[in-house]
Amino acid sequence: MRERIERNLALEFVRVTEAAALSSGRLMGTGDKEGCDGAAVRAMRAVLGTVDIDGTIVIGEGEMDEAPMLYIGEKVGTGRGPSVDVAVDPLEGTNVLARGLSRALSVLAVAESECLLHAPDMYMDKLAVGPRAAGRIDLDAPIRENLIEVARSLGKNVEDLVVVILERPRNETLIRDVRESGARIKLIPDGDLSPAVSVAFEDSGVDVLAGIGGAPEGVLAAAALRCAGGEMQARLCPTRPEEVKRAEEMGIRNVRRKLTMDDLVKGDDVLFAATGVTDGELLRGVRYSGPIARTHSLVMRGTTGTVRFIEAIHRLDKKAAARGEDSTGLWRE
Ligand code: FBP
Repeated sequence: MRERIERNLALEFVRVTEAAALSSGRLMGTGDKEGCDGAAVRAMRAVLGTVDIDGTIVIGEGEMDEAPMLYIGEKVGTGRGPSVDVAVDPLEGTNVLARGLSRALSVLAVAESECLLHAPDMYMDKLAVGPRAAGRIDLDAPIRENLIEVARSLGKNVEDLVVVILERPRNETLIRDVRESGARIKLIPDGDLSPAVSVAFEDSGVDVLAGIGGAPEGVLAAAALRCAGGEMQARLCPTRPEEVKRAEEMGIRNVRRKLTMDDLVKGDDVLFAATGVTDGELLRGVRYSGPIARTHSLVMRGTTGTVRFIEAIHRLDKKAAARGEDSTGLWRE
């Protein structure tokens, strides 16, 4: 019989995203994108290595030849425990953090092997909604019709809805159509994973995430929505023949077909954890104060649907002393 992902692993995975957030958050506003990402990757990889899983990275920092750590296919965890697929984004919003803007996150999703779409690094058209509108959307229908359905499900008017869209030329037609529908729009400069998760929480002030962003971020968001009972529909948007080839090599037949929740994340045995690096609608960013830092995280389990928000107070001096380092919170190699 296959081993379920144990519930007590949830806290272990939060430790992983907390470490990445604590380490990278220090570099907010430095303008150093690579430095921000490197700090998150090193910390995430080090802590992930202590978790009792036999994990394989299916979504990570890139292909083996372009990313030295957390590359696709890398084995992670102690090797003891369940055999799982691991999708990570140690720092979602590298540019965001480097500029000190909103919605940078550290994210991880874990599922039984072969249950997460092995999404290549390309663009993806996404439409995401929370639990009450799940089952009522269709990516192939005009956005106006989708918004009418979402508004009806939420007991709102279309004019009340807030739709988050990445501000990119490729999303211009969508932005125009949403404006014509009368819904309100939040255009974001980067970071569409955080709002795609926020739609599951009505008090976040985000009702819909729509438009073309990154495919890996799409799968991670779908994992969160699987746990929270929301829905995402998506379609890969290859821009070059090599991307089509790569998608096919990764097992995706008919690259342009609509992807449903079952294509993105199969089954409920999935776990999602995220820690805020900078402030967003859903999670607060890391706060540092001398030897103390506070993190705000979310962890959810699909099997039970339990959602936990975790506020943690970290004693950086004690953690660092245990590792024989200084107390800034930055994770050294
Ligand atoms: P990074 O963390 O890799 O910088 O990604 C940020 C992001 O804004 C994602 O949230 C989004 O899905 C994607 O990049 C959009 O890509 P692009 O900037 O090429 O339009």
